[in-house]
Amino acid sequence: MEKFFSVGDVDNLSQIVKEALSEKASPNANEALGKHKMMGLVFLNPSLRTRLSTQKAAMNLGMNVMVMNMDKDGWALETRDGVVMNGTTVEHIREAAAVMGEYCDILGLRCFPGLKDAEEDYSEDLFNKFLKFCNTPVVSLESATRHPLQSLTDLITVIENSDYTFDEAKQQYIPNGKKPKVVLTWAPHVKALPQAVPNSFSEWMCEAQKQGLVDFVIAQPEGYELNEDFTSGATLVYNQEDAFKDADFIYVKNWSSYKDYGKILPVEGEWMPTLESLKITNDAKVMHCLPVRRDLELGSDILDSEKSLVVKEAGNRVWAAQVVIKRILENK
Ligand code: CP
Repeated sequence: MEKFFSVGDVDNLSQIVKEALSEKASPNANEALGKHKMMGLVFLNPSLRTRLSTQKAAMNLGMNVMVMNMDKDGWALETRDGVVMNGTTVEHIREAAAVMGEYCDILGLRCFPGLKDAEEDYSEDLFNKFLKFCNTPVVSLESATRHPLQSLTDLITVIENSDYTFDEAKQQYIPNGKKPKVVLTWAPHVKALPQAVPNSFSEWMCEAQKQGLVDFVIAQPEGYELNEDFTSGATLVYNQEDAFKDADFIYVKNWSSYKDYGKILPVEGEWMPTLESLKITNDAKVMHCLPVRRDLELGSDILDSEKSLVVKEAGNRVWAAQVVIKRILENK
């Protein structure tokens, strides 16, 4: 593995989940792999889970870790070519990425979208330039359109909390009985948030559905449909109650509109899940990538109940990061 940017960087989802759960069972079994190697984590935006879990994962593999808060501590970056840098930007990404590549064996990068221009954000210009100029493997710590470490975590969490057998001959998880029904639901928020987490969750769950692991449904209000490149194969519904019927996992997340790019649109009805709205599910477990706004996005009655997987899910961020870093160190 040379980069970890999307579900396209993994061929067999079952195998990577199994490998991640093996890291979870023996966190320090591969600590010799990263000895004398350096992981650099570069943040252009805030983070709690991604920063700490990736740092812990790299350290479990014996790596040293450097963290750079580029937004606060770095020089203002220029990403455009062919401009005279006589404005506010101080350092070009060509030099900045290349220099960080000199210091590190693997780099992680977090770079959120601007949410002003869909074409610009969906081109993933900043991530791609960083990848091109740093000359070392790069792990996405959330880019403009995707959050693959979160999505791998979410798949691990679904499989870990369901009933599957791993078929060694097929190298695949096989559901014992009915495939889990996984529902991604839009939920309210006061800020315009990126589509990266739901895009990525959808992309991974659509692939998991193709590989026979889950049935996948997305519930969203009119106007909040995600970019179709990420939802191929998903069942799309506009009524949360319909989606929740017999669901085994409810994945709650807000996102801003893709069609009316980056906007918060008026929405009819109640979209914040509560214990009451879960009654029609198949005793569903509830997931969220965190941070979550209590009683705006998700009811605290759920978050404080046995139904919530959010803390276990955040715990699994370590094993998702660890399996990805391990594969890069093994160069496979
Ligand atoms: N879920 C997630 O990526 O959390 P942070 O933004 O705190 O890293």
